[in-house]
Amino acid sequence: MMNIKIKKLFSLAIILGSIFLLNTGFAAQENSDYVQPYLVVGDNQYILRAVTNLAKCPTVQWDSQDPEEMKVRVLGAKIPLRKKSDVIESDFPILTCEMVWPKDAKEGKVNNQVFKRPANEIKKIIVVADTGCRLKGAENFYQDCNEPTKWPLAQIMANAAAKNPDLVIHIGDLHYRESPCPESLPGCKGSPWGYGYDTWKADFFVPAKPLLEKAAWVFVRGNHEACSRAGQGWHRFIDPRSWDEKRSCNDHSNDVIGDYSEPFSVPLGKAAQFIVFDSAKNGSKPITEKDESFSIYVNQFKTIETLALNKKFNIFGSHHPLNIVLPSKKKDSQSEYQVYPTGFTNILAGLNGEELLKSPINLTIHGHNHIFEAITYDINRPAEIVSGNSGSSLEEINNVEIKLSDVQKKLLKIKEFSSYQDFGFGTLERQDETGEKWLFTEFDVNGKALLKCDVSDRTVVCK
Ligand SMILES: [Fe+2]
Repeated sequence: MMNIKIKKLFSLAIILGSIFLLNTGFAAQENSDYVQPYLVVGDNQYILRAVTNLAKCPTVQWDSQDPEEMKVRVLGAKIPLRKKSDVIESDFPILTCEMVWPKDAKEGKVNNQVFKRPANEIKKIIVVADTGCRLKGAENFYQDCNEPTKWPLAQIMANAAAKNPDLVIHIGDLHYRESPCPESLPGCKGSPWGYGYDTWKADFFVPAKPLLEKAAWVFVRGNHEACSRAGQGWHRFIDPRSWDEKRSCNDHSNDVIGDYSEPFSVPLGKAAQFIVFDSAKNGSKPITEKDESFSIYVNQFKTIETLALNKKFNIFGSHHPLNIVLPSKKKDSQSEYQVYPTGFTNILAGLNGEELLKSPINLTIHGHNHIFEAITYDINRPAEIVSGNSGSSLEEINNVEIKLSDVQKKLLKIKEFSSYQDFGFGTLERQDETGEKWLFTEFDVNGKALLKCDVSDRTVVCK
């Protein structure tokens, strides 16, 4: 008993110590050598990456082979303003390095950091989304990035790493610091801002370090990573495809290329896979045929349907939820709550009716709304999980837990509904041999389990 207590205290001290270092060590690291390796999951390949302020890329040692220098993905650069109206240049004084994981290698070592090849049978996945610290002058919104309780990402990442996942899925919106913090606000004073590396480091690389070094990451792109926002950093650091200057978002005239990427699937086991959809250019208004994204998304949804036929159990990941339950915006509404679709939901309805995504797509996972929701519909449609509560300021619904009465559920065509309105993260754990049954657990920032949700067929039922 005493041993367990001492172990718990020791773990807590390590986590608190890491958070203290993460929150105070940022400035001190700027002038010292910095190498941050991480493992990105792409289309049928893993890519070992590293960002470094050194003049050359670090070496990687595959199993017992001689170390070899990683290739330069893209050199550091200061990018000229994309448009005259932009207010700050994106400065990337950092080298991005990479190497595709050799098919037969079991592990890769960068400096002292060992990365294991992800297992063929994925058993435990961390799910996070909407992680950065929100600084947005246009909305006069300034999250207290310097206060770990107000922006708890470092704590979430440390506690998520302690769960020892096989894989991490980030469902978009990594970058949030778009405006300078006013001098008068100590909560965010001194924060970097804009779309350059200093902001990416503060918003993502520093707090995510423990989890970046624990497992491979699947990234789903959010609207904050569109070309007009943090798209330059997205392509430089995160996108799993080869570097392509035309796709880089550096030149505004190429945005129609850089703002979209083809869907791909990530195998999770014999019968299961996760399908990645890039919805960076999606908005809240229904997308019509006049919109640039209409035909691109129509074609991509057809690709997704074809991809889904390869496995029995499919999880579709898009940053924007197909539907989200929120308090009704109309005062005279019959129901206290409404189901709000996103911009591309009407495209799916046009293709597939109220099913939205055809079987065998069983579950959809999203972020964007800064809340946790688990929805099973009373119609034939994939179950849905929204997990956008991993650090950025929470959904403004007065911190009231959404509870649907039976009458409201019937009105909204919902069979089962659960929500959680505070910061946290999720795990998705496989419950059977093939990957057709999963358990989604929603944790608070301390890693304490709050809700356990059984996922199978097209249902997610939380206890
Ligand atoms: Fe978003």
